[in-house]
Amino acid sequence: MNAGSVDYPKRNGQSCRLLHVVGARPNYMKVAPIMSAVEAYAERGGSTVFEQLLVHTGQHYDRALSELFFEELGMPRPDVNLEVGSGSHARQTARIMEAFEPVLESYRPDLVIVVGDVNSTLACALDARKLGIPVAHVEAGLRSGDMSMPEEINRRATDAIVDLLFTTDRIADACLQREGTDPAAIHRVGNVMIDSLLRHREKAMARPTLSELGLLGGDGRPVPYAVVTLHRPGNVDDADTLHAIGTALAQLGERMPVIFPVHPRARERIRSFGLDGLFATTNGIRLLEPAGYLDFMNLVAHARLVLTDSGGIQEETTILGVPCLTLRSNTERPITIEQGTNRLVGSRTADILAGIEAVLADNASHTRTPELWDGYSGERIVRILADWWAARTVTPPAVGMPEAPPIRVGARNDQ
Ligand code: UD1
Repeated sequence: MNAGSVDYPKRNGQSCRLLHVVGARPNYMKVAPIMSAVEAYAERGGSTVFEQLLVHTGQHYDRALSELFFEELGMPRPDVNLEVGSGSHARQTARIMEAFEPVLESYRPDLVIVVGDVNSTLACALDARKLGIPVAHVEAGLRSGDMSMPEEINRRATDAIVDLLFTTDRIADACLQREGTDPAAIHRVGNVMIDSLLRHREKAMARPTLSELGLLGGDGRPVPYAVVTLHRPGNVDDADTLHAIGTALAQLGERMPVIFPVHPRARERIRSFGLDGLFATTNGIRLLEPAGYLDFMNLVAHARLVLTDSGGIQEETTILGVPCLTLRSNTERPITIEQGTNRLVGSRTADILAGIEAVLADNASHTRTPELWDGYSGERIVRILADWWAARTVTPPAVGMPEAPPIRVGARNDQ
């Protein structure tokens, strides 16, 4: 369904119209708990009437990176799919902006909610702000300090223009305050991605993932194995770096199976750099198609260790208590190092191997759960949205007064 063919419902009285944006794989598990918390708020008879619309920009379009997640997370199907597809950063961002603007003009949301740090996040936040529509950013304040990462640019630019900033932890709050963000706009709500993990954990653990992959021993218990994910341009777009990582993984593969669900970007680079012989079963490395959410959570939960350059997996391993080696020199999620199992090892062979040795020599679990990573972040967001909406819609006192329309504080510039 594209933007032009959508027949949007008529506005329901004084309702607050939320428009949620998803674009790429890590967005779905962040939006799902917010949408379900909005529904739960209505079922409890909350005083604010919310309407919600889900827009998929189509940044990710492969079934394994997109469609499957809606099924597994029990999310409503997107009301609109902008089908922008892949392209250079400029082209992808521009296409999203061009396609999203008419959706805003016809649906006229009261608030656009963007999550994470992908190109869709920034493109849709920019569009909305330029039409004078308020924007909330979920996962605000995460900073790696590394401006060579496209995501860092997206994070900083998004946080600079939005109205409501929902953060995962106190370090993110401090980053925003250092940048001069109005403290009243910062709301620490915890981690919506962990809402999804806790909600779907039981279902994920019931999946036959390990038996299907032959990762159960004779006693029915998981054998020691490692899980790898790689997709950052900094790691996969440079032949020497990818070779260095592959060399470390091949050495780990001599000791335990290395299970690597491959992102399309990484698969293409392994092939074009001629590294298929290194990332190979003969070296103990098993390349799989990108995994669905439930299978992936099952794989991670039972792994001896995880090696990744993803942001979200640093957080999920923190909650699951699984050692995580992050193949980067920085992280926008330092709380996972302070309180979780995460260590930064970069992408040089010797450093990765040293990290592996350290993990394998240490059987203790050191993990603590960061404050508010408790499965209720979506609910906290909805409560704040209800208060925000109440403060914007001031109804004059009824006693002795003629019927008057509500006064909208800070109304949009198109009204
Ligand atoms: C994007 C996000 C990244 C996020 C990642 C999760 C940005 C800047 N990057 O990176 O932050 O961690 O998603 O996966 O927004 N491709 C397919 N099928 C798809 C989508 C992409 O085959 O459904 C291929 C295309 O060849 C494309 C390449 O993968 O060129 C990269 O996709 P792209 O959306 O540009 O960025 P990601 O690397 O996925």
